[in-house]
Amino acid sequence: MSVHKEIRKVTTARLSEMKLRGEKISMLTSYDFSMAQLVDEAGVDVILVGDSASNVMAGNQTTLPITLDQMIYHGASVVKAVKRALVVVDLPFGTYQGNSRKALNSAIRIMKETAADSVKLEGGSEVIKSVQRILSAGIPVMGHLGLMPQSIHKFGTYAVRAKEEAEEKKLIDDAKMLEQAGCFAIVLEKIPAQLGKRVAEKVKIPVIGIGAGGGVDGQVLVIHDMLGITQQFSPRFLRRYHNLAAEIKGAVGNYINDVKSSDFPNEKEQY
Ligand code: KIV
Repeated sequence: MSVHKEIRKVTTARLSEMKLRGEKISMLTSYDFSMAQLVDEAGVDVILVGDSASNVMAGNQTTLPITLDQMIYHGASVVKAVKRALVVVDLPFGTYQGNSRKALNSAIRIMKETAADSVKLEGGSEVIKSVQRILSAGIPVMGHLGLMPQSIHKFGTYAVRAKEEAEEKKLIDDAKMLEQAGCFAIVLEKIPAQLGKRVAEKVKIPVIGIGAGGGVDGQVLVIHDMLGITQQFSPRFLRRYHNLAAEIKGAVGNYINDVKSSDFPNEKEQY
């Protein structure tokens, strides 16, 4: 008898069921084939090909410079590795704001050229026409509210958002609007925990937080941050699960020593 373990792909419907059951959703970023394969095999529910690739992969100060072609390159690399997780690809800055036709074309390119399961974009009422148009083509959309890194030049800082009543109200209204439009989930970034919990209670779709407290339906982190590859970035919400920077530097240091001392390659490591 062959023991064949079937992999059940995570879908947007499965994420809603998880919220209903009270099962928390795990989400992490990945930008390349090898990392995505490990993250998927470890069993994460959602893999985000985030535009944070602009920072952690390309070394930019902000997420603004990354292009649609570059996001498609990362997205297609990730999708080839993933068997179980739902894959979400970020629409980069300048590809969906203010022009819903352009937004639809950008989302279609991502779906066709990466074979991802869905797209994510930042904003509420300002981008609702784009959200509706993308959804009308049958493309699942994840929203993103709170700290929106693509608007860093408007905010001027990466500090906690929606601490004031007016911004808190707008965030709740935007979350309801995204739900009403048909988004399957919303990311909430860097807002007070009590507000994260309120939003998760007010909408039926899953709310996934990054610095939005424990009262939401799931959590997302940037993989390079949680593995301790990035060293400078240390916000309060970040839990580091490893110090890979030290491990990598240690291994590379050993390699350098072995090469310099002619210890590598040895007899068995050559033809
Ligand atoms: O681009 C990204 O990695 C993100 C997460 C921070 C949610 O949008």
